[in-house]
Amino acid sequence: MEKLTMTSREKTIDLGEKIGQQLVAGDVLVLDGDLGAGKTTFTKGLAKGLEIPDIIKSPTFTIIHEYQDGRLPLYHMDAYRLENGGAEDLGLEEYFDGDGVSVVEWAEFVEDELPADFLAIHFKRTGDDDTRVLEFEPHGKHFNQIVRGVIE
Ligand SMILES: Nc1ncnc2c1ncn2[C@@H]1O[C@H](COP(=O)(O)OP(=O)(O)O)[C@@H](O)[C@H]1O
Ligand SMILES: [Mg+2]
Repeated sequence: MEKLTMTSREKTIDLGEKIGQQLVAGDVLVLDGDLGAGKTTFTKGLAKGLEIPDIIKSPTFTIIHEYQDGRLPLYHMDAYRLENGGAEDLGLEEYFDGDGVSVVEWAEFVEDELPADFLAIHFKRTGDDDTRVLEFEPHGKHFNQIVRGVIE
């Protein structure tokens, strides 16, 4: 799997921005990793790349936050609270097939609902407080191209 080491919060945001600039309607990204690993931080960058002016906050208590003021709508989901089921009741398919970009944190709880093409990013903490390792798992041609573009 392709890996990148991000040595600061800002670098993770910049990477998110670079990826966000290349996204199109219907794109789905799933982010996993422990609490504090950088999933929401990355999503802030992604929103920047989508030209969303709002401040992105973790949607833990609402499950889905929608941002409509960017180049494309962003649907930011935190599936953590779906630990005990319920993903099928959210109508996720409509978001995934829709006119915007979907980003799911803690996607293991929505695995069954995912489309064929998506980009999974695994976030890992390291011994250094400011460093995170990101592992990319692209599914489909579009995401393979995006990953190839950010790796070199
Ligand atoms: N290289 C880095 N990339 C991302 N976040 C970092 C990095 N270094 C330190 N941090 C800090 O780690 C925390 C990550 O939190 P957050 O993005 O909310 O994680 P998650 O959504 O995975 O729980 C933030 O406080 C951020 O400032
Ligand atoms: Mg988060």
